Amino acid sequence: MSFDFSQLQCPVIQAPMAGGINTPALAAAVANAGGVGSFGFAYSSPEKISADLRATQALTTGPLNANFFVFQPVALPDAAQQAAALAAFTALGLPDDCVLRVPQAPFYPDLDSLLVPVWQHRPAMLTFHFGIPPASVLQQAKALGIAVGITATSLAEATQIEAAGADFIVAQGIEAGGHRGTFEPEGDADTDWPLDTLLSVLTAHCRLPIVAAGAVMDGADIQRVLRLGAVAAQMGTAFLCCDESGASPAHQAFIRHEHARGTAFTRGFSGRRAQGIANQFMTALHGQTTLPFPIQNTLTGPIRQRAVQRNDGEHQSLWAGTAYRQAQALPAAVLMQHWSEQLQACRRV
Ligand SMILES: Cc1cc2nc3c(=O)[nH]c(=O)nc-3n(C[C@H](O)[C@H](O)[C@H](O)COP(=O)(O)O)c2cc1C
Repeated sequence: MSFDFSQLQCPVIQAPMAGGINTPALAAAVANAGGVGSFGFAYSSPEKISADLRATQALTTGPLNANFFVFQPVALPDAAQQAAALAAFTALGLPDDCVLRVPQAPFYPDLDSLLVPVWQHRPAMLTFHFGIPPASVLQQAKALGIAVGITATSLAEATQIEAAGADFIVAQGIEAGGHRGTFEPEGDADTDWPLDTLLSVLTAHCRLPIVAAGAVMDGADIQRVLRLGAVAAQMGTAFLCCDESGASPAHQAFIRHEHARGTAFTRGFSGRRAQGIANQFMTALHGQTTLPFPIQNTLTGPIRQRAVQRNDGEHQSLWAGTAYRQAQALPAAVLMQHWSEQLQACRRV
């Protein structure tokens, strides 16, 4: 079931951002303002997914998007690698009450169980990061009239997405905050293409609608990606400091004030390459052994949770895109209104 992007009053998908950043208030505000409100449900539970979708659907009848990771099968590396990965944290000087334990299987949630509440609540969209879900998932979505979108960082991935029968492609440029959506966990074949390059290539070779993600921060950026052939923009960092954002206070403070740091890529937090504001954790883990995704993510959980509790921005993941300095602390509805007006102004020129 394809989604009619031309029906959006403002062609914006508020990006799915796993880890409590998406809230019912945020998703509903964006959907009520003529965009698409999303949830990153990758690490959630069926009960929480159901509660979030129910709470949001009580606030809006606009389009919503439920987003999941496609976890690849993973095995625990040998004892020597485990020891090396644990030793990498020595430089952080962790206190005695922060104990790290190598996790045991299962390393990630079962996708079929997570999707049960999605089939019940039927959001307009279902999107996936890190790969293509099983054909049965695409079939079920189609049967229920839910449009499926999948992240691509290259033409090779976009071609596979089209062949799988998805409804749209989310083109993720290297500027984007959070995890690279590459299908290959090691990301060795990553093109690292900037968004505009990726868009030009995908619009020339693909027939599916393309949503543009990566450092889109205002109406002029939205207009630029539409001109390059995208049907909408997926914006994450631009919403991190809005009133309805669930990003931690330290995350928001770094976005707003730590403008000299810039962003960097790290595997240190999760085992997969992801972009965020540079901090002490990233420096300490640079070049060190990490366990595969998402084993490393579970391993670093106690460090990140402790940092959030202590309002410590140096030891939590501060995912953000390269244009984070432009993020504004306003209600989401006001942001959407500004972008709509800017877009109209660009169109009049
Ligand atoms: C804090 C944060 C968390 C993210 N989590 C997810 C996620 O759970 N699923 C997903 O598909 N993309 C995720 N992304 C990537 C976004 O979908 C999108 O590619 C990115 O936000 C676009 O770049 P921008 O942040 O510069 O707008 C995340 C991005 C950020 C900033």
